[in-house]
Amino acid sequence: MTTPPAKIILDCDPGHDDALAILLAAGSPAVELLAITTVGGNQTLEKVTLNARRVCTVAGIRGVPVAAGCAGPLARPLETAPEIHGETGLDGHDFPEPDVPLAGVHAVDLILEILGREPAGTVTLVPTGPLTNLAVALRKDPHTFRRAREIVWMGGALGLGNVTPAAEFNAYVDPEAARAVFASGVPLAMHGLHLTHQVRVTESVRRRLREMGTPVGRMAADLMAFYTERYRRRFEMGDPPLHDPCAVAFVIDRSIFRTQRMRVDVETRGEFTAGMTVCDVHGVTGRPANAEVAMEIDVVRFWDMMFLALAALPIQSS
Ligand code: RIB
Ligand code: CA
Repeated sequence: MTTPPAKIILDCDPGHDDALAILLAAGSPAVELLAITTVGGNQTLEKVTLNARRVCTVAGIRGVPVAAGCAGPLARPLETAPEIHGETGLDGHDFPEPDVPLAGVHAVDLILEILGREPAGTVTLVPTGPLTNLAVALRKDPHTFRRAREIVWMGGALGLGNVTPAAEFNAYVDPEAARAVFASGVPLAMHGLHLTHQVRVTESVRRRLREMGTPVGRMAADLMAFYTERYRRRFEMGDPPLHDPCAVAFVIDRSIFRTQRMRVDVETRGEFTAGMTVCDVHGVTGRPANAEVAMEIDVVRFWDMMFLALAALPIQSS
């Protein structure tokens, strides 16, 4: 008997890598994308929400509600990332006007509605931005929130951060939300920088995207060209890491990952360490493990998964 597709809600802040996470989730036959929800992060809520609708328009992703969520963190001003994602949050491609509507419901309410509607333990939440929407949903209706099967988050880091030496962007923007979600009681898998930096957008990947010769391939190639140039400028890095699709890939086939259960605590007060995910790799704290942390990924199988999904999206010709 074949395994039914995994039901997911993708909570994101497009963002170049979020855009590819949307494409992977929508194109993979192993995923049933129930909703796309947006959160202030890489750019303002208005911009990331427009970007989600733009990506869905180019790829022909229809019938998946796109709902806007929280504009900013629980307890701090929003800090965006224009140095990586540009002023629009998705610079680098000339998008048509979106023809995918904005859902007339707040993302938090849509998340809770879906969790309440679907059988308990069947919907996976896949956040690839700050965890503000999930933290507000947890606070608003903890019983319904805990019907989620699992939370698979792109965020955090086992070691160095990328916004400060200590903190990764998604954790840094809203550490209070991350702290609350890690304590929610819903099983949580964390895909931090130590994992996502194993997946690089190389020249051959960029060429393979361009050679698809489809609107989706052209969009992805354009976006990755911009993203690569910005990463080189900011981090003096040859090929940029592709963060967010790792979380979706985990839902599709967790066998391409090695993980380790461990205790993860989120620093919210440190003068120099706010947003740090303190990962107890060696169990020295004696505190109970609360996360499955992805440690390694089979990069070849990841890219096979990604290109299969891109080729399966509805719009394959202009
Ligand atoms: O640190 C990388 C994460 O921050 C990714 O999700 C990227 O899109 C940004 O949101
Ligand atoms: Ca993101």
